[in-house]
Amino acid sequence: MDFPRLFSLSVLLILTFLASYSSIAIDTLTPNQNLTDGQILLSSNQIFQLGFFTPGKYGKRYLAILYHNVPTTTVAWVANRDNPLSDSLAHLTMRSDGALLLYNSSMAVVWSMNETMTGQSPILQLLGTGNLVVRKQDNTNASDYIWQSFDHMSDTMLPGMKLGLKLKTRTSNYMRSWKSPDDPSDGEFTFSLETPETPQLLLRSGSNKDYRWGPFDGDRFSGGNRLRNNTVFKPIFVSTADEIYYTFEALDNSILMRSVVTPLGGIQYLTWRNGSKDWSLTVEVNRLYCDRYGMCRGNGNCYADDPPCRCLEGFAPRSPQDWRLYDYSDGCKRKFDLNCSNRDGFVKYDGLKLPDNVVVWPNLTPEECAAECLRKCDCMAYTRINPLGNGSQCVVWFGDLIDLRDFPEEGEELYIRMARAEIDSIAKNKWRKHMRLVVAITMLSAFALLLLAILAWYKLRPKGRREEDTISMPKAHESKSFPHYEEESQDEDLDLPIFDLATISAATDQFALGNKIGQGGFGPVYKGELPNRLEVAVKRLSQNSGQGLREFKNEVILIAKLQHRNLVRLLGCCIQGDEKMLVYEYLANKSLDNFIFDRIKRKLLPWSIRFNIVLGIARGLLYLHQDSRLRIIHRDLKTSNILLDREMNPKISDFGIARIFGGEITEEKTRRIIGTYGYMSPEYAMSGHFSVKSDVFSFGVIVLEIISGRKNWGFYDPDHDHNLIGHTWKLWNEKRSIELVDDILDGSFSKDEVLRCIQVALLCVQQRTEERPTMSTVVFMLSNENVELPQPKEPGFVSERSAMQIDSSSSGQDFHTGKHITFTTAEGR
Ligand SMILES: *[C@@H]1O[C@H](CO)[C@@H](O)[C@H](O)[C@H]1NC(C)=O
Ligand SMILES: *[C@@H]1O[C@H](CO)[C@@H](O)[C@H](O)[C@H]1NC(C)=O
Ligand SMILES: *[C@@H]1O[C@H](CO)[C@@H](O)[C@H](O)[C@H]1NC(C)=O
Ligand SMILES: *[C@@H]1O[C@H](CO)[C@@H](O)[C@H](O)[C@H]1NC(C)=O
Ligand SMILES: *[C@@H]1O[C@H](CO)[C@@H](O)[C@H](O)[C@H]1NC(C)=O
Ligand SMILES: *[C@@H]1O[C@H](CO)[C@@H](O)[C@H](O)[C@H]1NC(C)=O
Ligand SMILES: *[C@@H]1O[C@H](CO)[C@@H](O)[C@H](O)[C@H]1NC(C)=O
Ligand SMILES: *[C@@H]1O[C@H](CO)[C@@H](O)[C@H](O)[C@H]1NC(C)=O
Repeated sequence: MDFPRLFSLSVLLILTFLASYSSIAIDTLTPNQNLTDGQILLSSNQIFQLGFFTPGKYGKRYLAILYHNVPTTTVAWVANRDNPLSDSLAHLTMRSDGALLLYNSSMAVVWSMNETMTGQSPILQLLGTGNLVVRKQDNTNASDYIWQSFDHMSDTMLPGMKLGLKLKTRTSNYMRSWKSPDDPSDGEFTFSLETPETPQLLLRSGSNKDYRWGPFDGDRFSGGNRLRNNTVFKPIFVSTADEIYYTFEALDNSILMRSVVTPLGGIQYLTWRNGSKDWSLTVEVNRLYCDRYGMCRGNGNCYADDPPCRCLEGFAPRSPQDWRLYDYSDGCKRKFDLNCSNRDGFVKYDGLKLPDNVVVWPNLTPEECAAECLRKCDCMAYTRINPLGNGSQCVVWFGDLIDLRDFPEEGEELYIRMARAEIDSIAKNKWRKHMRLVVAITMLSAFALLLLAILAWYKLRPKGRREEDTISMPKAHESKSFPHYEEESQDEDLDLPIFDLATISAATDQFALGNKIGQGGFGPVYKGELPNRLEVAVKRLSQNSGQGLREFKNEVILIAKLQHRNLVRLLGCCIQGDEKMLVYEYLANKSLDNFIFDRIKRKLLPWSIRFNIVLGIARGLLYLHQDSRLRIIHRDLKTSNILLDREMNPKISDFGIARIFGGEITEEKTRRIIGTYGYMSPEYAMSGHFSVKSDVFSFGVIVLEIISGRKNWGFYDPDHDHNLIGHTWKLWNEKRSIELVDDILDGSFSKDEVLRCIQVALLCVQQRTEERPTMSTVVFMLSNENVELPQPKEPGFVSERSAMQIDSSSSGQDFHTGKHITFTTAEGR
């Protein structure tokens, strides 16, 4: 019999013993009784227990409320979070005045609750809701509890717990994350309800605002679209004269639910699944780019789109150059300065998340609200909301508007102050648009009439003169022999900087070896610093691209137009003599392989970041394949071509080069230059056939590498000679996929997410191209928790030998079966 079994059996024995010999009722404790390590209080519905436990590896013990029936230890509340016990000789006792005291083995108090009472004798009870309460023995009225654990949240919110403020005592009940999954002591993140006049929910790290939802508008928290009614739980906001709070109810009471702030700052709603015997992530509230506080800074509006940040109408970027480079830190400024007279006015914006720093001006009518705001020079915007649910109020904002977000359907109205000139120009634009529409409609109708007339004439006219009429038609078309690129580059104003060789040479210190940061298939890469101190990466292309200068330039210009937050930005090029160079933005964190395969640096990539990287690569690739106008196949997707910015957002690099070098090169050359073993799809490695699905294959490999922290090429496992793909497939078949996950993550990840990623990756590395999903399907499958994924079949290239064998074409090993080579090993499993 193993130890945990023995342990729980002994707990059971102790319990039966206690139940029969002492008078301890199973869910209560009375004065002068002790709860020692090994004993538990069990709620009458058997869902929760109060007892001592050890989380993770540090061996410290804590008094905590745990789920009783859930096989994975799940903690709902911890008493002595910041004061752990070092042995199992502690005990909890209640004084006759109701104070709770937790003593360690040397009889020092390590935790206490001393809201005391007089008169009747107290009783401690663990309720079926997970609430631990001290109350008078014969008074079960909830509003008379002397103390309750629900008023002292740890990192978990159970249904019915109130996250909020008691207005009289000015006490706040808020969630605070654990330091790590093994350490319940105070972590970095808090989730709380703030500003009682205009309630907002805030996730802070330390004192910084990381995420914000609010203000409450009478119906919901502005921008909190994941905190709305759904099929699993109901979010509730209550405001009374005594308290304001946010809470939630599970719609189905038989399902266990909890919300938690994770050590990494995620706000998750989890439900217990009997089937998988695990918690499943129902909603993660703060997932998206625009969820983060103030992503687009002052007066910028965040869109679930690319590029994510745009200035509000009437505003323009403070530094357009940075803005183009996705650096939004300076925000937006007004196009026309306000001049603080009553010539200013308001423009109505719709569908917004309301900005931060709201001020209430009570008891004003809408007209007074606007007029009063105009009167104050620095009043920027106003609107009306019903923050406490008892009447709508005039609310205003001063200074820059921070943390705006676009919510087309569910957003709010906001009236923003504008200079008269801007109002006029907006009106003019509207009028122009309107006129354009009118003109268009008029022209269309005229055209239709004309067509009708021609048709009528054609039908009615005398026959016989037809030839003459049509003879000049083809000539008009012939003048198109103008080169295509000329047209392109003329009708759109392109400002791709062309750098001269001297500038680049100076920037890279004459291509000094010390500045070389990489060597790609197409040539070396150097780090450089332009005279304006902008750091760049310069790719010096090897000589024979097989392209003429003009075509090259044309191609570069096209590629420079591709803009996506998950693609490295091409800033310009340099063409001089034989030299052809591409100048890219420089990314501080270099490439993904630097991190993911490094023992130490890997620790900097917790699961949430890895998942974000996977999603980012998928989105970038989707853009290349489908959404950009060029439809680019990357052909050499690998971890060293994924660069990371300061915030660890992934950016695909080298994406246009395959195209620049494409076209006339021979197949051998293709093979030599492009493609890296371990990432190549079977059809590409064997016959040089490539399609978007070859990129999908490489993507699948990258995902597996990100999850496991191991390389596909060069993978070693003592039990078999598969590569990483084969290893994954083996684990998948043995239903042990979760073992693929990098040990360094130490169990701290969402199992659902990991399994979904593994399944998607296996689908991507399928042998047959038609069985691999397209990138749009991949993005969809990754970002929707509730879609059913297809079952993968055996993937291609499950063993390294088979891949190697393709490479050395005719080495005549025994993997051939007739004309086709079997890429997959034939061992049975
Ligand atoms: C409970 O613990 C106290 C010390 O805190 C001890 O004096 C007392 O005897 C214990 N009571 C029982 C019933 O074990
Ligand atoms: C009990 O707690 C006191 C005060 O925190 C501490 O000094 C003492 O070392 C602890 N005893 C044990 C056995 O941990
Ligand atoms: C109540 O407990 C707190 C710490 O938990 C302590 O600072 C305070 O002195 C105690 N008050 C009384 C009356 O024991
Ligand atoms: C509980 O107490 C409050 C006030 O203390 C009272 O308004 C309420 O009716 C009581 N509820 C029950 C069920 O007795
Ligand atoms: C949520 O549902 C409740 C009824 O279950 C309803 O009263 C409430 O208005 C709904 N809230 C929103 C924001 O739709
Ligand atoms: C709304 O409720 C708040 C707090 O209970 C109170 O201060 C305020 O006066 C109320 N407003 C109205 C219009 O009743
Ligand atoms: C889940 O399992 C518990 C026992 O662990 C059982 O009481 C409950 O009915 C089950 N729920 C469902 C929906 O099967
Ligand atoms: C305010 O605007 C008016 C009209 O546009 C202009 O004549 C005046 O100089 C402006 N005042 C200031 C202080 O800018």
